[in-house]
Amino acid sequence: MAILQLEDKTVLTNLKDIAQELASLNIQLNRWEIGDNPQLRRLLAQDSLNENEKEQILKALDGYFEQLQQTAGYQSRDLIVFHPGVANLDALLGKFDQIHIHADDEVRFIIDGEAIFGFVRPDGSQVELTVQPEEYINVPAGTEHWFYLTPARRVKAVRYFIGTEGWVPQYTDKKIRTRQAVI
Ligand SMILES: [Fe+2]
Repeated sequence: MAILQLEDKTVLTNLKDIAQELASLNIQLNRWEIGDNPQLRRLLAQDSLNENEKEQILKALDGYFEQLQQTAGYQSRDLIVFHPGVANLDALLGKFDQIHIHADDEVRFIIDGEAIFGFVRPDGSQVELTVQPEEYINVPAGTEHWFYLTPARRVKAVRYFIGTEGWVPQYTDKKIRTRQAVI
């Protein structure tokens, strides 16, 4: 279940309350089920995955991708796998842990582990949302946000793309005032 922390350290876990707090950002946060396919569950429990195993996972979850293709013109998907054993983990994460925007929506389906998205709301306030397995999030293009991992430093997430040319972080040089966990 998602967890939202406000700047005054208020913590919200009720999805309705969280949706209300995120409404001004037009963020979509939905529950997408993974199911209980034993082979899929076994792969998700692994730390690292080879390309063939990643593709097996993506294929098992492609029903969601097909929906996005049909309703919103999505064209590709991939799987990111972060865990403490990834050699260049800090470098990979370092691109996204400061406030930035993208020209395209940032669309993620968390399927293992967890991660934190921070957002700057239109009134300038900042919030941090912990996303967990079976949660789909769409962060609209142009939303000031940042991304990092919880202390477990473990997440698997499917990324969905309309195009990849917009997929460059543009830093807005604002300071993060709230941070739940040390990277
Ligand atoms: Fe981003």
